[in-house]
Amino acid sequence: MRVVLGFSGGLDTCVSLKLLQERYDADVITVTVDVGQRSKLFKSAERRARQLGAVKHVYVNAKQEFVREYVFRSIKANGCYEGYPLSIALARYPTASWLVKVALRERADAIAHGCTGKGNDQFRFDMTISTLAPHLRLIAPVREFDLTREWEVTYAKKYGIEIERRPYSIDENLWGRSIEGSVLEDPSRPPPEDVFELTRDPSKSPRKPLLISLKFERGIPVALDGKRMDGVTLIEKLNEMAGKYGIGRIDIIEDRILGLKAREVYEAPAATVLLEAHEALEALVLTKEELGLKSRVDRKWSELVYHGRWFDPLRDNLEAFIDSTQKRVNGEVEMRFIPGKAEVIGRKSPSSLYDEKIVSFHRKSFDQKAVASVTKFHGMNGKIFRLRGDVV
Ligand code: ARG
Repeated sequence: MRVVLGFSGGLDTCVSLKLLQERYDADVITVTVDVGQRSKLFKSAERRARQLGAVKHVYVNAKQEFVREYVFRSIKANGCYEGYPLSIALARYPTASWLVKVALRERADAIAHGCTGKGNDQFRFDMTISTLAPHLRLIAPVREFDLTREWEVTYAKKYGIEIERRPYSIDENLWGRSIEGSVLEDPSRPPPEDVFELTRDPSKSPRKPLLISLKFERGIPVALDGKRMDGVTLIEKLNEMAGKYGIGRIDIIEDRILGLKAREVYEAPAATVLLEAHEALEALVLTKEELGLKSRVDRKWSELVYHGRWFDPLRDNLEAFIDSTQKRVNGEVEMRFIPGKAEVIGRKSPSSLYDEKIVSFHRKSFDQKAVASVTKFHGMNGKIFRLRGDVV
């Protein structure tokens, strides 16, 4: 049997590789998809794959695709689930799609991934693979053998697989980094400083604020500090700049797909800044009614992405609405980075609905006297209810 395995070089995928060879008698082709993990990880992934006897290793650079097809859509939808900017969730779709592409090219019989049975990623991988290649067998060894981390560590040692000194489960891409497990599993304890790599401790970040500007066209960021650049570069730069200020640390209790509550820690500097800026621009150009409906559409979109349902036609329908609103989301947002926070301090747009002449306290713009008759009849239901007094 020929199996294509999604491979990061971490514990779960190394153990999966050996299990596929040993227990399924498989020839394994490992695939590492680059969605912006920092590059030292790729070299070690390839080295490990070879050491462990993969018949072939494939590296796919999907950074531009990830940003264009996934991250940009998420910015337009203010993609966020319970305070988490969907960093890992979004990247699973291009990664799984590439596993399918390689499997078809290599005429593989099966596709495998290293997910355990407790998390969310298994949904995203399984849904993508079974939608795009329903004829291929799907194998998740760690889940199938119901393995614990302790078992995996012992098994890995037998094959000389080096185990990270730090016992966390980490995942990373351009849109953020997630850290789970070990001491973080006690949600009453603060995360130790050593879990963070993209962000500096805010109490040690520069005291002097940093001013930046972001330009958006149709809801998508196109320039930073007046310089046009592609999405990958812009996000990389922002991760660096905002990371120095300790911006984008997220520590939450998250409701996983299976109904488990989990303590999740994230670092997402660029995502935090861009989502903040995008929302500020929307507030300037969209009507109150549009904003009200959009926040519900955005929420539904984010739920689909989180829950592995990228291929649901509802996403296309929601995006039709989202894209129609984004035509006007053009303009510039100015921000100030201070320790731990990115503040919006200015916004402007050719499509702005803000009218200083009308709203200003300092001038006459419309007949204010006439407004008294509006307030008289405003919210009549509530007034009638309170005036009756006897209704329970
Ligand atoms: N809870 C996040 C999500 O569901 C992060 C998952 C992290 N995955 C991992 N294999 N470490 O998207």
